[in-house]
This record gives sequence, structure tokens and C-alpha cells, in this order.
Amino acid sequence: MGCSVCLWLLISLGRVWGMGHGAREMVLGTLGKATTLQIPPDLRDLTLRFGEAVWKRDTEDPQRKLVLLKYLDGNYTNYMQGRALFHRLNFSLEILNTSRQDGQLYEYIVSKGPEEKVWQIQLQVYEPVSDPSIQILSQVLANGSCTITLNCTAARGDSISYSWGSQDSSISQLCSRNGSLLHLSYPLQNTSIPCTCTASNPISTRVIVFNSSKCSYDQGGKSPVADLAPSSLPVLLLLGRG
Ligand SMILES: *[C@@H]1O[C@H](CO)[C@@H](O)[C@H](O)[C@H]1NC(C)=O
Ligand SMILES: *[C@@H]1O[C@H](CO)[C@@H](O)[C@H](O)[C@H]1NC(C)=O
Ligand SMILES: *[C@@H]1O[C@H](CO)[C@@H](O)[C@H](O)[C@H]1NC(C)=O
Ligand SMILES: *[C@@H]1O[C@H](CO)[C@@H](O)[C@H](O)[C@H]1NC(C)=O
Ligand SMILES: *[C@@H]1O[C@H](CO)[C@@H](O)[C@H](O)[C@H]1NC(C)=O
Ligand SMILES: *[C@@H]1O[C@H](CO)[C@@H](O)[C@H](O)[C@H]1NC(C)=O
Ligand SMILES: *[C@@H]1O[C@H](CO)[C@@H](O)[C@H](O)[C@H]1NC(C)=O
Ligand SMILES: *[C@@H]1O[C@H](CO)[C@@H](O)[C@H](O)[C@H]1NC(C)=O
Repeated sequence: MGCSVCLWLLISLGRVWGMGHGAREMVLGTLGKATTLQIPPDLRDLTLRFGEAVWKRDTEDPQRKLVLLKYLDGNYTNYMQGRALFHRLNFSLEILNTSRQDGQLYEYIVSKGPEEKVWQIQLQVYEPVSDPSIQILSQVLANGSCTITLNCTAARGDSISYSWGSQDSSISQLCSRNGSLLHLSYPLQNTSIPCTCTASNPISTRVIVFNSSKCSYDQGGKSPVADLAPSSLPVLLLLGRG
């Protein structure tokens, strides 16, 4: 009996140990939310068998690492008391209120005598995107057409990318653009050109709809000239509203 267990252990050990040292996984965390760092089943099995493991984290200083948690034969010491939970059943580490400083390289190391098996996790922390807003940078009524420049921005969020589009396929060509700026030109009789701005980053997405009826004078209350940056204005306002 002992021998077959030995053999099986040897085989699975060879498989796991042969995987290459320090496989690296990327985990995206949300600022202020909990982030769980998990280890693969192989390492869970090894931890159960060998009974000794540790969670570590890099710091800004390459010569210094933090030991977050030590596990030994079912007992563990959590050095992140109050800031992280350890899930004893699967050895995952749950960072409770993820901060920017938590965005580091983590290591889970199983030890067996003179040998170690390392699992590496790179945590990237992002602040979620807040609701974007649309600013009208310029607005020109000429020849019965409305030419409008829009700037879509979200006040908060890391690494935000913007894109314009429309749910309405007939006008999606008109609204399709990458980036926060959209130059839009359409005949005044088209009362509603609902372009949407999408602000997103790797962990969140927010959408806002621009209603083109805002192009008319009476909404917004300002004359279009007041909204224009002086330098960007070819002065040709041939207006006729009727
Ligand atoms: C684990 O903790 C229990 C209770 O504190 C103790 O009796 C036991 O000896 C510990 N085991 C190890 C391996 O440290
Ligand atoms: C590990 O356990 C925790 C708590 O029970 C759970 O939230 C998490 O999803 C588990 N992870 C895996 C990989 O099973
Ligand atoms: C999370 O951390 C931030 C910054 O450290 C703090 O302002 C906030 O109150 C914390 N939230 C919780 C739920 O602990
Ligand atoms: C208005 O339309 C006419 C005829 O299509 C054109 O000749 C003129 O240049 C246009 N004016 C402006 C300001 O676009
Ligand atoms: C768009 O709005 C953002 C945020 O207010 C601002 O920083 C940026 O300069 C604006 N872009 C233009 C072209 O005005
Ligand atoms: C926006 O960027 C994506 C990815 O780079 C590209 O596939 C798409 O064609 C672009 N769309 C427009 C309207 O430029
Ligand atoms: C604008 O209105 C005209 C006439 O109703 C229509 O043919 C055209 O497709 C509309 N364009 C857009 C972009 O909605
Ligand atoms: C745009 O405005 C028009 C007129 O005020 C309204 O009927 C329409 O529902 C609005 N569309 C959106 C997407 O808000």
C-alpha cells in the first residue's frame, strides 16, 4: 500500500515540480474592494501533503519582502491581521480593502525539506471608472447643419480609455470614434442622434448617452459662440433657423 502511494506521489510531484519555477498569474483588483488571491489545485494538494507554506509580497525595495502569512500543519499566523483573511480550506488570501500599495508581486511558496514550489501572482489595482460626463466644446449651426465637438470625460478612474458609438446601427458610423473627443455633423432636421460615450478600464465600464437635441439654442441657454474656443473657430456662422 505504502509503495503505490509513494509512486503516485512521485509522479504527481514530478509533474508539478517540472512546471517551471514561479509561474506568474495576473490578477486585477478593484480599489477599496476585496481581492482574493488563489492558488491552483496542484499547489493546494502539495500544501496538504507537505503541510508548510507561506504567502509573501514584494515591496518597493527589491531587497525586502513582506511575509504575509505562514501556514504549518493546519495552523497559520496571519501577519496581515485585519487587512486580509486566509481561507484555510483552499489556502487563498483575501485582501479586504485593496489599496494601491497592494499592487505588488505576491508569492505562495510550498516547502518540502530543501525544496520549494513557488506560485507568483502580480496584482494590479485599479480605481473604477466614475460616471462620465459630456462637455460641448463647440457648436456651430451653418447651412442647416449642426457641427458639434464633444468631450467625454470621467472624473475618476485609472487608465481610462474612451470610445464613441451608438446603439442605433443606422447612425453608428456617424458616432464611431476612439478617444474622448467626437466631432459630429448632422442636418438640423435630425432631432435625435443618440451617440454613446463609453469610458472603461480593465475592471469597469460606464456609458453615457448624448442627446443631439441639445444642439438647439434653447437647451443649454448659451449662444453657440460662447462655447467656442476662439482659436478653433473659422468665423462662418450663417444662421437661419426656420
Ligand atoms: C496547532 O495549534 C494547536 C492549538 O493551538 C496545537 O495544539 C498544535 O500543536 C499546533 N500544531 C502545530 C503543528 O503547530
Ligand atoms: C476558496 O475559499 C474561499 C472562501 O470559502 C472562496 O471564496 C474562494 O472562491 C475559494 N477559492 C477556490 C479557488 O476554491
Ligand atoms: C479602505 O481603505 C481606505 C483608505 O485606506 C479607507 O479610507 C476606507 O475607509 C477603508 N474602507 C473600509 C471599508 O475599511
Ligand atoms: C452652405 O452650402 C452651400 C451650398 O451647398 C455652400 O456653397 C456653402 O459653402 C455652405 N456654407 C457653409 C458655411 O458651409
Ligand atoms: C476634455 O475634458 C478634459 C477634462 O475636463 C480636459 O482635461 C481636456 O483638456 C478636454 N479636452 C479638450 C480638447 O478640451
Ligand atoms: C478603435 O480602436 C479599436 C482597437 O484599437 C479598433 O479595433 C477600432 O477599429 C477603432 N475604432 C474606430 C472607430 O477608430
Ligand atoms: C436624418 O434625417 C433624414 C431625413 O429624415 C434621414 O434620411 C437620415 O437618415 C437621418 N440621418 C441620421 C444620421 O439620422
Ligand atoms: C432626446 O431628447 C428628445 C427630445 O427632448 C427625447 O424625446 C428623447 O427621448 C431623448 N433621447 C435620449 C436618448 O435621451
